[in-house]
Amino acid sequence: MTEHLTNASSLTTSGTGITVSGVSKRFRDNHILRSLDLDVEPGSFLCLLGPSGCGKTTLLRCISGLEHPDEGVIRIGDTTVVDTARRVQVSPERRGLGMVFQQYALWPHMTVADNIAYPLRKRRVPREQRTRKVTEIAEIVGLSATLHRPPRQLSGGQQQRVALARALVHEPPALLLDEPLSNVDATLRRQLRRELRDLHDRLGTTCILVTHDQAEAAGVADVIAVVQDGRIVQSGTPREILEHPATRFVAEFVGFDNFLEGRIENVEGQRGVVALSGAGGRVEVEIAPGAAAGDTVVVAARSDTLTIDRGSVDPGDGQVSATVSRVVPHGSGVEIELDTGPSTLTVREHLRPGTTPSPGEAVTVSLPRTARAVAS
Ligand SMILES: Nc1ncnc2c1ncn2[C@@H]1O[C@H](COP(=O)(O)OP(=O)(O)OP(=O)(O)O)[C@@H](O)[C@H]1O
Ligand SMILES: [Mg+2]
Repeated sequence: MTEHLTNASSLTTSGTGITVSGVSKRFRDNHILRSLDLDVEPGSFLCLLGPSGCGKTTLLRCISGLEHPDEGVIRIGDTTVVDTARRVQVSPERRGLGMVFQQYALWPHMTVADNIAYPLRKRRVPREQRTRKVTEIAEIVGLSATLHRPPRQLSGGQQQRVALARALVHEPPALLLDEPLSNVDATLRRQLRRELRDLHDRLGTTCILVTHDQAEAAGVADVIAVVQDGRIVQSGTPREILEHPATRFVAEFVGFDNFLEGRIENVEGQRGVVALSGAGGRVEVEIAPGAAAGDTVVVAARSDTLTIDRGSVDPGDGQVSATVSRVVPHGSGVEIELDTGPSTLTVREHLRPGTTPSPGEAVTVSLPRTARAVAS
């Protein structure tokens, strides 16, 4: 699709900001959204990242108007579309947001062109203008050759592009995407993800993409907002979220897989010293903002960043003594499970014949500088 993006087009949407303040939503006794706050900058690309059931779809449905929050305020640009205290609830049609779901929900009896034109027909856009806009958006998403076919004759990726074109054709102020890439294979998924980002950059539409795939989020987003139990628990650039998670939950979600309990002894700027529980020593690590001396924390590290020294049993600062419990082949390397007493650690190493420790052996594990102390 990228080659189409250079073509001149009249299709532009000035991306609109979205603000969600104190939004709560219950289904019977289930409190799904819990006074959730979210700020989406005009024209930005935000990913909502979180595990199944945390409320991502419910939040998108509240923003689009398909679901009514019990409490809270939602603004799209300068327009208040929800204000429960003032009984404001603007209809989905009048919010005019573009939406793409996991199920593309294309009309099987209509051609691709008619599917894409549907939002324009509903808005009573004259035929000539409709045809022009459909032609333009079809060219942008690379569907020009398929316009007169029924959707069933298209591949999964092409059908997804039809859904995207249909969501964009009326030039919405923002595009809401609910796991639109989860039905396609990994290669196509990567390609569509790139195309989605190109499309965003080309049209300037504000995008909110729901995913539970951290790599997908990191690959497209300006901002990642992590959802846990109906709240945004951390938001920031992909780098901030992937490298500087604030809590154990966020750290686990973005792939940190080693956690050592301890207590902060002192903090100096962004770093500090943590005394590890049990037989662990002291480690100098990055400290998540807001944490203070005396706090109980976990030191989080990724398994491919820890290193093992064989034989050494007298750990220095930044090191932990452990016993090897298991050595398992992992891809081209090995995964070594270690017992530190209070915790279990996993280290991934390249295979180095003759140097890989054996089960039962006492070793010393060194933590990387990127290890961080986060709220437990
Ligand atoms: N209409 C409804 N009636 C009752 N419960 C609902 C309704 N819609 C959602 N829920 C419940 O709300 C919770 C959150 O659902 P939601 O679909 O927002 O999660 P999600 O984060 O999108 O999950 P997933 O990643 O699996 O799509 C779930 O426990 C779900 O069963
Ligand atoms: Mg969902």
